[in-house]
Amino acid sequence: MTAVTGQQGTDRDDTDRRAWDELLARRTHALGGGEITAILSLAGATDVITFSGGFPEPATFSTGVLADTAARLIATEPEVVLQYSATEGLPGIREYVSGRLAAAEGRAPGAGELMITSGGIDCMELLAKSYVDPGDVVVAESPTYLGALMAFRGYQAGMRGVPVDDGGMRVEALADLLAGGLRPKIVYTIPDYQNPTGLSMTTDRRQALADLARRYGFLILEDVAYRELGFGAAPPPSLWSLAPDVTVQAGTFSKIFSPGFRMGWAAGPAEVISRLVVAKQNSDQCAGALGQRMVEEYGRGGHLDRQIATARTLYERRAGLTTRALAAHMPDGVTWTTPAGGFFTWLTCPEGVDTVALSAAARAEKVAYVPGRPFCLQDTGAGTETGTNQIRLAYSRVADDLIAEGIRRIAGVIKSAL
Ligand SMILES: Cc1ncc(COP(=O)(O)O)c(C=O)c1O
Repeated sequence: MTAVTGQQGTDRDDTDRRAWDELLARRTHALGGGEITAILSLAGATDVITFSGGFPEPATFSTGVLADTAARLIATEPEVVLQYSATEGLPGIREYVSGRLAAAEGRAPGAGELMITSGGIDCMELLAKSYVDPGDVVVAESPTYLGALMAFRGYQAGMRGVPVDDGGMRVEALADLLAGGLRPKIVYTIPDYQNPTGLSMTTDRRQALADLARRYGFLILEDVAYRELGFGAAPPPSLWSLAPDVTVQAGTFSKIFSPGFRMGWAAGPAEVISRLVVAKQNSDQCAGALGQRMVEEYGRGGHLDRQIATARTLYERRAGLTTRALAAHMPDGVTWTTPAGGFFTWLTCPEGVDTVALSAAARAEKVAYVPGRPFCLQDTGAGTETGTNQIRLAYSRVADDLIAEGIRRIAGVIKSAL
């Protein structure tokens, strides 16, 4: 380790940092992680129009109801809400989530098939911790959600990407990889209004993916973070409802309730859920009890359904404002997806445009986006995008009256690179 004694001021800080990095685990070195930090660092900027983070619109939070509920729960059941809970979650919220799943998916989890997690990312982390050895293959859509990539990479998974088109993950490309000998332990997918493309998987592909899982013996990890935020008709059946024997569904209340409570669920085969419960016992032990009771009370009071209905209308309006502004301002050769739900649209610029390099110019214009590269799995041999000339735009938290101006600025930055 580098000696740090006798150093002063900023020199000393730099030396300290280098010294501690020398102690990092090899798996952490490989992880990077700067991308999510960069996204979150702009979260509080007030003078930048930011299309970067997948944040819900704060106006959807019912602050009055939440404040009253929290005060009541703390006053009336402190021994529950201020205490540790069972690792699999309190019985009340598990019964509530089970009922929601039964109503929405036509299937209730059986005994031991459901647990409460600390948000969606917790489920991915617990699954990776329990099932992934260094070098094990995990397949994901490319592009996909950065947090999931981080979770699997954190356990040194060998990530392989499968391309996405208007029908979601190209399951036939996965079938080719499997026929060629690829043997993943887990296939991670976001079938509804995917992050970052906004695209969804067709029913036929869901069925085909379930068939492949049974044939080749891998587990499907279905991330339903945006499933309830569709703008029109209900999405196709969930993978968990089609194939509960081979699917773990990772659900989250972050996008439909509030990310501040860090609440989610995992539904899947009892044998798998029991492993995740053991893994949670030695991570955070349990999701926060106050949050669990808040979700349950808010939900049983009908507030969650009302919030979701309002949120859908709001995000649909913002998606429309975004795609109309893109059509008005983007130069020829730029294309984008038209989301039918969720928070995102995915832009493709002409070949040769480097959206990482352009993000500095965007910052100078006081607008922010996330470049496509970190979402993509490189060199997978399955014809996936590299993300170099792509951009993810999150319209979910941009005020209506700033969307067109923000898009106009991004279009100006792209034009300057052509
Ligand atoms: C696809 C997807 N899954 C999961 C999450 C994580 O959500 P949570 O806040 O529940 O950990 C996100 C958040 O951005 C997401 O986009």
